[in-house]
Amino acid sequence: MTEFGTSRSGTNDIWEAIYTQRAVRYWEEREVPQELLWRIVDAATHAPNGSNRQLWRWLVLTDPAKRGRIAAAVRERVQIPAKWIAGARDAGDSSRLLMYRGSQHLFDRFDEAPALIVPCQHQFASATGATADSLVAGASIYGAVQNLQLAARALGLGTVLTTAQVWIGDVLRSELGIPEDAQPAAVIPVGYPAVDFGPTRRKPVEEVTFWNGWGVHGTRKPSG
Ligand SMILES: Cc1cc2nc3c(=O)[nH]c(=O)nc-3n(C[C@H](O)[C@H](O)[C@H](O)COP(=O)(O)O)c2cc1C
Repeated sequence: MTEFGTSRSGTNDIWEAIYTQRAVRYWEEREVPQELLWRIVDAATHAPNGSNRQLWRWLVLTDPAKRGRIAAAVRERVQIPAKWIAGARDAGDSSRLLMYRGSQHLFDRFDEAPALIVPCQHQFASATGATADSLVAGASIYGAVQNLQLAARALGLGTVLTTAQVWIGDVLRSELGIPEDAQPAAVIPVGYPAVDFGPTRRKPVEEVTFWNGWGVHGTRKPSG
């Protein structure tokens, strides 16, 4: 589906939201009304999740001083590895290079986004017996994160899923008082985008889909 163009406004068309929700790393200097942050987190909490146990907590962070300290930790600790950049350059992969440049820009200015959202698994290990960083734990929270990102797109807000918690977990815990039985699953900047939403580029679905058996590529026929 490629009929959607670039735009900076919201949309109620679920297909447009899905096909144009892309990683936003540049922000307008503009507050996000609290009600919109509530709405996107509310959308997240309506996601499917294992046994409907809802073993999640959503930390919404707007406090400038706390965001500043978290941003300082990200700036200090998170770098795109030089070999990734060299690899993309050697391969002539300009879109990957652009992504790395955008990602480093984001890591250098993490508090430019007016809000950060930190989804956490809460008491997941004790309730399910699965480790909090297992694939099955991810299955119960990242779908909710996608709801949040699509809801933000619908409202004209940009987001990007980052795994910054891997490097700054201790700072998140001390700044936000996250207890030991909760695990941050992502750190998601949210704001009004200073870039357009637009069609995301992915491999053709036929290339990554097998039909009735591994390795068997189906043929897609026009419907109707
Ligand atoms: C698990 C995961 C981790 C990601 N981590 C980061 C990150 O740390 N920094 C970043 O800038 N983008 C991050 N992203 C965003 C991806 O780079 C982005 O979704 C991908 O390049 C596709 O870009 P597009 O959605 O704009 O088409 C992450 C996405 C996922 C799903």
